[in-house]
Amino acid sequence: MRTHEDYLRELELLDTFQQLGRIPTEAVKASAEVAASIAVKDERINTSRPPLQAAKTAAVTPITIDPARAARIATMDWAALRAETASCSACGLCKQRKQAVFGVGAESAAWLFVGEGPGAEEDEQGEPFVGQAGKLLDAMLAAVSLQRGREVYIANVVKCRPPGNRTPTLDEAAACAPLLDRQIDLIQPKLIVGLGKTAVIRLTGSDASMAAMRGAVHRYRDIPVVATYHPAYLLRSLTEKLKGWEDMSLARREMAKQVAIQSENG
Ligand code: URA
Repeated sequence: MRTHEDYLRELELLDTFQQLGRIPTEAVKASAEVAASIAVKDERINTSRPPLQAAKTAAVTPITIDPARAARIATMDWAALRAETASCSACGLCKQRKQAVFGVGAESAAWLFVGEGPGAEEDEQGEPFVGQAGKLLDAMLAAVSLQRGREVYIANVVKCRPPGNRTPTLDEAAACAPLLDRQIDLIQPKLIVGLGKTAVIRLTGSDASMAAMRGAVHRYRDIPVVATYHPAYLLRSLTEKLKGWEDMSLARREMAKQVAIQSENG
Protein backbone atom coordinates (compact mmCIF):
# COMPACT_ATOMS: atom_id res chain seq x y z
CA MET A 1 0.00 0.00 0.00
CA ARG A 2 1.46 3.32 -1.09
CA THR A 3 1.90 6.08 1.44
CA HIS A 4 1.79 9.82 0.86
CA GLU A 5 5.57 9.77 1.16
CA ASP A 6 5.59 7.52 -1.93
CA TYR A 7 3.61 10.12 -3.90
CA LEU A 8 5.95 12.89 -2.82
CA ARG A 9 8.95 10.78 -3.73
CA GLU A 10 7.48 10.33 -7.21
CA LEU A 11 6.99 14.08 -7.43
CA GLU A 12 10.63 14.40 -6.41
CA LEU A 13 9.49 16.62 -3.55
CA LEU A 14 9.86 14.32 -0.54
CA ASP A 15 13.40 15.32 0.45
CA THR A 16 12.58 18.99 0.16
CA PHE A 17 9.47 18.75 2.31
CA GLN A 18 11.34 16.69 4.90
CA GLN A 19 14.01 19.38 5.05
CA LEU A 20 11.28 21.99 5.49
CA GLY A 21 9.85 19.84 8.28
CA ARG A 22 6.39 19.54 6.77
CA ILE A 23 4.57 16.98 4.67
CA PRO A 24 1.50 18.54 3.05
CA THR A 25 -1.65 16.49 3.55
CA GLU A 26 -2.83 17.37 0.03
CA ALA A 27 -0.18 14.96 -1.23
CA VAL A 28 -2.17 12.04 0.11
CA LYS A 29 -4.92 12.77 -2.36
CA ALA A 30 -2.77 12.79 -5.49
CA SER A 31 -3.13 9.56 -7.41
CA ALA A 32 -0.04 7.47 -8.03
CA GLU A 33 -0.34 7.75 -11.81
CA VAL A 34 -0.65 11.52 -12.01
CA ALA A 35 1.99 12.00 -9.35
CA ALA A 36 4.35 9.83 -11.35
CA SER A 37 3.58 11.72 -14.53
CA ILE A 38 4.89 15.01 -13.14
CA ALA A 39 8.31 13.43 -12.91
CA VAL A 40 8.29 12.42 -16.57
CA LYS A 41 10.76 14.39 -18.58
CA ASP A 42 9.69 14.16 -22.22
CA GLU A 43 11.79 15.72 -24.91
CA ARG A 44 8.72 16.43 -26.97
CA ILE A 45 7.85 19.25 -24.58
CA ASN A 46 9.22 22.53 -25.76
CA THR A 47 10.53 24.06 -22.54
CA SER A 48 12.54 26.67 -24.34
CA ARG A 49 9.91 28.82 -25.98
CA PRO A 50 11.22 32.23 -27.03
CA PRO A 51 10.48 34.87 -24.39
CA LEU A 52 7.57 37.22 -25.09
CA GLN A 53 9.96 40.09 -25.70
CA ALA A 54 11.51 38.17 -28.59
CA ALA A 55 8.11 37.33 -30.05
CA LYS A 56 7.11 41.00 -29.92
CA THR A 57 9.83 41.94 -32.35
CA ALA A 58 9.37 38.90 -34.64
CA ALA A 59 7.93 39.58 -38.10
CA VAL A 60 4.18 39.02 -37.90
CA THR A 61 1.30 39.98 -40.11
CA PRO A 62 -0.29 43.13 -38.61
CA ILE A 63 -3.65 42.46 -36.98
CA THR A 64 -6.59 44.79 -37.20
CA ILE A 65 -8.62 44.78 -34.01
CA ASP A 66 -12.26 45.17 -34.92
CA PRO A 67 -14.32 46.70 -32.07
CA ALA A 68 -17.59 45.66 -33.76
CA ARG A 69 -16.43 42.03 -33.74
CA ALA A 70 -15.50 42.27 -30.06
CA ALA A 71 -18.91 43.76 -29.23
CA ARG A 72 -20.68 41.02 -31.19
CA ILE A 73 -18.69 38.26 -29.44
CA ALA A 74 -19.44 39.80 -26.04
CA THR A 75 -23.13 38.87 -26.43
CA MET A 76 -22.69 35.31 -27.71
CA ASP A 77 -23.92 32.15 -26.04
CA TRP A 78 -21.75 29.00 -25.89
CA ALA A 79 -22.91 27.62 -29.23
CA ALA A 80 -22.32 30.88 -31.09
CA LEU A 81 -18.95 31.34 -29.40
CA ARG A 82 -17.84 27.85 -30.41
CA ALA A 83 -18.89 28.46 -34.01
CA GLU A 84 -17.13 31.86 -34.02
CA THR A 85 -13.93 30.25 -32.71
CA ALA A 86 -14.04 27.38 -35.22
CA SER A 87 -14.26 29.77 -38.17
CA CYS A 88 -12.09 32.59 -36.77
CA SER A 89 -9.62 34.29 -39.09
CA ALA A 90 -8.84 37.35 -36.97
CA CYS A 91 -5.09 36.71 -37.11
CA GLY A 92 -2.58 34.74 -39.15
CA LEU A 93 -2.59 31.74 -36.79
CA CYS A 94 -5.69 30.42 -38.56
CA LYS A 95 -3.65 29.73 -41.69
CA GLN A 96 -1.69 26.78 -40.32
CA ARG A 97 -4.11 25.32 -37.79
CA LYS A 98 -5.76 21.95 -38.22
CA GLN A 99 -8.53 23.23 -36.00
CA ALA A 100 -9.15 25.92 -33.42
CA VAL A 101 -8.96 24.60 -29.85
CA PHE A 102 -11.87 26.09 -27.96
CA GLY A 103 -11.57 24.90 -24.35
CA VAL A 104 -12.82 22.05 -22.22
CA GLY A 105 -14.57 21.51 -18.92
CA ALA A 106 -17.62 22.40 -16.89
CA GLU A 107 -19.29 25.50 -18.33
CA SER A 108 -19.98 26.89 -14.86
CA ALA A 109 -16.71 25.72 -13.28
CA ALA A 110 -15.43 27.43 -10.15
CA TRP A 111 -11.84 26.98 -11.36
CA LEU A 112 -10.53 28.28 -14.67
CA PHE A 113 -7.01 27.41 -15.85
CA VAL A 114 -5.67 29.50 -18.72
CA GLY A 115 -2.67 28.35 -20.75
CA GLU A 116 -0.83 29.92 -23.63
CA GLY A 117 -1.96 28.22 -26.84
CA PRO A 118 -2.39 24.80 -28.40
CA GLY A 119 0.63 22.66 -29.27
CA ALA A 120 0.80 19.98 -31.96
CA GLU A 121 -1.25 17.38 -30.10
CA GLU A 122 -3.91 19.89 -29.09
CA ASP A 123 -4.13 21.10 -32.72
CA GLU A 124 -4.60 17.49 -33.77
CA GLN A 125 -7.17 16.54 -31.11
CA GLY A 126 -8.99 19.85 -30.63
CA GLU A 127 -8.65 19.84 -26.82
CA PRO A 128 -6.31 21.95 -24.66
CA PHE A 129 -3.49 20.33 -22.69
CA VAL A 130 -3.75 16.79 -24.02
CA GLY A 131 0.01 16.39 -24.61
CA GLN A 132 2.77 15.95 -22.04
CA ALA A 133 2.17 19.42 -20.63
CA GLY A 134 -1.40 18.28 -20.09
CA LYS A 135 -0.27 15.33 -17.97
CA LEU A 136 1.59 17.78 -15.80
CA LEU A 137 -1.46 19.99 -15.58
CA ASP A 138 -3.54 16.98 -14.51
CA ALA A 139 -0.95 16.32 -11.77
CA MET A 140 -1.21 19.93 -10.63
CA LEU A 141 -5.01 19.60 -10.54
CA ALA A 142 -4.76 16.37 -8.56
CA ALA A 143 -2.45 18.13 -6.09
CA VAL A 144 -5.41 20.30 -5.10
CA SER A 145 -7.94 17.47 -5.42
CA LEU A 146 -9.33 18.64 -8.75
CA GLN A 147 -10.07 16.69 -11.87
CA ARG A 148 -10.25 17.80 -15.49
CA GLY A 149 -13.84 17.86 -16.75
CA ARG A 150 -15.44 18.26 -13.32
CA GLU A 151 -15.16 21.56 -11.44
CA VAL A 152 -12.50 22.84 -13.80
CA TYR A 153 -12.50 24.63 -17.16
CA ILE A 154 -9.30 24.76 -19.23
CA ALA A 155 -8.74 27.32 -21.96
CA ASN A 156 -5.89 29.11 -23.72
CA VAL A 157 -5.01 32.71 -24.54
CA VAL A 158 -4.91 31.87 -28.24
CA LYS A 159 -7.11 29.21 -29.76
CA CYS A 160 -4.90 28.30 -32.73
CA ARG A 161 -1.47 26.71 -32.62
CA PRO A 162 1.43 29.14 -33.09
CA PRO A 163 3.78 27.68 -35.72
CA GLY A 164 6.64 25.71 -34.17
CA ASN A 165 5.05 26.23 -30.74
CA ARG A 166 6.43 29.74 -30.56
CA THR A 167 5.02 32.15 -27.99
CA PRO A 168 1.97 33.98 -29.38
CA THR A 169 2.60 37.65 -30.10
CA LEU A 170 0.80 40.34 -28.16
CA ASP A 171 -1.20 41.14 -31.33
CA GLU A 172 -2.31 37.52 -31.67
CA ALA A 173 -3.31 37.45 -28.01
CA ALA A 174 -5.25 40.69 -28.54
CA ALA A 175 -7.04 39.28 -31.61
CA CYS A 176 -8.13 36.26 -29.56
CA ALA A 177 -9.01 38.33 -26.47
CA PRO A 178 -12.76 38.70 -27.19
CA LEU A 179 -13.08 34.90 -27.34
CA LEU A 180 -11.37 34.28 -23.99
CA ASP A 181 -13.15 37.27 -22.42
CA ARG A 182 -16.51 35.85 -23.44
CA GLN A 183 -15.59 32.37 -22.15
CA ILE A 184 -14.78 33.92 -18.79
CA ASP A 185 -18.03 35.92 -18.79
CA LEU A 186 -20.04 32.78 -19.48
CA ILE A 187 -18.19 30.59 -16.96
CA GLN A 188 -18.03 33.19 -14.16
CA PRO A 189 -15.25 31.29 -12.36
CA LYS A 190 -14.51 31.99 -8.71
CA LEU A 191 -10.77 31.85 -9.40
CA ILE A 192 -8.46 31.85 -12.42
CA VAL A 193 -5.02 30.24 -12.49
CA GLY A 194 -2.77 31.80 -15.13
CA LEU A 195 -0.34 29.19 -16.46
CA GLY A 196 2.78 30.98 -17.63
CA LYS A 197 3.70 34.47 -18.62
CA THR A 198 1.50 34.81 -21.73
CA ALA A 199 -1.60 33.97 -19.70
CA VAL A 200 -0.60 36.16 -16.77
CA ILE A 201 0.03 39.18 -19.01
CA ARG A 202 -3.29 38.65 -20.76
CA LEU A 203 -5.27 38.24 -17.53
CA THR A 204 -3.65 40.88 -15.35
CA GLY A 205 -2.28 43.38 -17.88
CA SER A 206 1.08 43.23 -16.10
CA ASP A 207 4.26 42.04 -17.78
CA ALA A 208 6.19 41.91 -14.50
CA SER A 209 8.34 38.81 -14.17
CA MET A 210 6.70 35.57 -13.06
CA ALA A 211 8.88 35.70 -9.96
CA ALA A 212 7.27 39.04 -9.11
CA MET A 213 3.72 37.93 -9.94
CA ARG A 214 3.77 34.66 -8.02
CA GLY A 215 2.70 34.52 -4.38
CA ALA A 216 0.07 37.28 -4.59
CA VAL A 217 -3.54 37.34 -5.73
CA HIS A 218 -4.17 39.53 -8.79
CA ARG A 219 -7.41 40.40 -10.59
CA TYR A 220 -9.01 39.87 -13.95
CA ARG A 221 -11.89 42.36 -13.70
CA ASP A 222 -13.17 41.36 -10.22
CA ILE A 223 -12.06 37.70 -10.37
CA PRO A 224 -8.97 36.65 -8.37
CA VAL A 225 -6.04 35.43 -10.45
CA VAL A 226 -3.16 33.30 -9.17
CA ALA A 227 -0.05 33.21 -11.35
CA THR A 228 2.07 30.12 -11.76
CA TYR A 229 4.62 28.79 -14.19
CA HIS A 230 3.54 26.96 -17.31
CA PRO A 231 3.45 23.17 -16.63
CA ALA A 232 6.13 22.55 -19.28
CA TYR A 233 8.43 24.99 -17.49
CA LEU A 234 7.85 23.21 -14.19
CA LEU A 235 9.58 20.14 -15.61
CA ARG A 236 12.89 21.92 -15.51
CA SER A 237 13.85 21.36 -11.91
CA LEU A 238 12.81 20.35 -8.45
CA THR A 239 12.87 23.97 -7.30
CA GLU A 240 10.44 24.93 -10.05
CA LYS A 241 8.09 22.06 -9.16
CA LEU A 242 8.13 23.18 -5.58
CA LYS A 243 7.10 26.65 -6.67
CA GLY A 244 4.25 25.18 -8.70
CA TRP A 245 3.14 23.30 -5.61
CA GLU A 246 3.20 26.48 -3.55
CA ASP A 247 1.19 28.35 -6.18
CA MET A 248 -1.49 25.66 -6.23
CA SER A 249 -1.66 25.79 -2.44
CA LEU A 250 -2.17 29.57 -2.62
CA ALA A 251 -4.88 29.04 -5.24
CA ARG A 252 -6.64 26.56 -2.99
CA ARG A 253 -6.56 28.94 -0.03
CA GLU A 254 -7.89 31.78 -2.18
CA MET A 255 -10.67 29.54 -3.50
CA ALA A 256 -11.70 28.64 0.07
CA LYS A 257 -11.83 32.37 0.84
CA GLN A 258 -13.98 33.08 -2.22
CA VAL A 259 -16.39 30.26 -1.34
CA ALA A 260 -16.71 31.63 2.23
CA ILE A 261 -17.31 35.21 0.98
CA GLN A 262 -19.93 34.07 -1.52
CA SER A 263 -21.78 31.95 1.02
CA GLU A 264 -21.78 34.86 3.51
CA ASN A 265 -23.27 37.08 0.83
CA GLY A 266 -25.94 34.47 0.18
N1 URA B 1 0.39 24.45 -23.71
C1 URA B 1 -0.57 25.38 -23.55
O1 URA B 1 -0.31 26.48 -23.08
N2 URA B 1 -1.80 25.05 -23.88
C2 URA B 1 -2.12 23.86 -24.37
O2 URA B 1 -3.29 23.64 -24.65
C3 URA B 1 -1.10 22.91 -24.52
C4 URA B 1 0.15 23.22 -24.19
